[in-house]
Amino acid sequence: MSRLIIISNRVTPPAGPDSAAQGGLSVALSAALREYSGIWFGWSGERTDHFNGHIHFQRSEGVTTATIDLEDQDIEEYYNGFANRTLWPLFHYRIDLAEYEREFAGGYQRVNARFAETVRPLIEAEDVVWVQDYHMIPLGAELRRLGCKNRMGFFLHIPWPPRRLFAILPLATELARSLFDYDVVGFHTEEWLDAYREFAVEDLGATWRESDGVLTLGGKSVQLLNCPIGIDAAEFAEMSRGPTAQHAFRQMQESANGRVMMIGVDRLDYSKGLEDRFLGYERFLREHTEVRKEVFLLQIAPPSREAVETYQEIRTTLEGLSGRINGAYADVDWVPIRYVNQGYPRDYLAGIYRAARIGLVTPLRDGMNLVAKEYVAAQDPEDPGVLILSRFAGAAIQLRDAVLVNPYSAEEMSDAIVTALKMDRSERIRRWRSMMNSVEREDVIWWRQKFTDALMGSEMRAAS
Ligand code: G6P
Repeated sequence: MSRLIIISNRVTPPAGPDSAAQGGLSVALSAALREYSGIWFGWSGERTDHFNGHIHFQRSEGVTTATIDLEDQDIEEYYNGFANRTLWPLFHYRIDLAEYEREFAGGYQRVNARFAETVRPLIEAEDVVWVQDYHMIPLGAELRRLGCKNRMGFFLHIPWPPRRLFAILPLATELARSLFDYDVVGFHTEEWLDAYREFAVEDLGATWRESDGVLTLGGKSVQLLNCPIGIDAAEFAEMSRGPTAQHAFRQMQESANGRVMMIGVDRLDYSKGLEDRFLGYERFLREHTEVRKEVFLLQIAPPSREAVETYQEIRTTLEGLSGRINGAYADVDWVPIRYVNQGYPRDYLAGIYRAARIGLVTPLRDGMNLVAKEYVAAQDPEDPGVLILSRFAGAAIQLRDAVLVNPYSAEEMSDAIVTALKMDRSERIRRWRSMMNSVEREDVIWWRQKFTDALMGSEMRAAS
């Protein structure tokens, strides 16, 4: 059987006997690696003075990881630069924040070449390669240059921007073209897939075959796959009933003191819409004096990508905004926003989600958003909470029974909070059941099987 080689910027191997410290993606990829055996290759997160291609191998919980250190200049130009100052904002429609520096693009290409050269000797003839996310778009092309003939897939975990936005990128054509070196390219929604297809057809001159979703350009063919990622739904639901979650649940209930808790859990990132969320909540506080003290918002926002200025700015903005709102509305016995800048293990979060009557997931743009699915999976089936979800998160395609909002509109956000507060139990149960069905049916195992089936099947397609 073929081995699976997964390549991503960040490598998060299983941490211990349970998956509490792992994210959902890491759980999924680890499970795939156990099934097919193989290697998870990427950046160690560490620096080195001189890149020498030395690989650190590690084996944990049946998963082998192989990581390399990068030089300061690589990290600055590739990770902080092209990945997080150029592609991330552009792909999240924030052309106002995207920076275009030649050094960034050069660093991105160089690091992708370094990854390819280092991982190449580890790839055997029958192996299947699966590259993850926007840090590594040209990796497939680099591997082909080194003679790699293996089946290769790529998955994008963030949105693909509309054609006219993508065209702003100076290297748009080269980057889009490099996806043709993969056999299968996956997206979380039809919308992101269509955006890429449109650019490929209109700007690169590719031809599209609707019947099997294959794009062809200059003798190369790539299959596009709409494949929304899920969570480890059954495990997460079980985790939400486990001892750590129960402890968190009781802690939150005691500290809520009979009030309704709304929960937000997001990396501190401008794409998550935290500023607009706070403004929407402020509007609710201003307009609903009769109920405002019955509610509070717990916003957990662990800092992220702190070397990038826009991330420092959003942190400062949110500190100011939460301070201002609390200053204006707090009373001696109540604070409207509890704003917390640290992360918590998943099993602890599961208990917090279960204790929260309202889940607020309102990104301005998001490839998928797994917090929305985790919030659903953690609910008590007899007395579930209400999910308020941005229309612009990939998750909104599957979670149609959330209270869907335009996250830019403070009015809609405020109205949605009122709707959620008033919603009776039978309506909450009806909506939750429908969402939970989707979360359970299209879980993370379904996701990776759908992708690996397409990838392994592409061998037959190439041969036919
Ligand atoms: C998003 C990206 C991932 C990334 C994660 C955390 O979910 O799609 O590729 O790993 O954010 O960001 P970081 O920069 O800390 O890896």
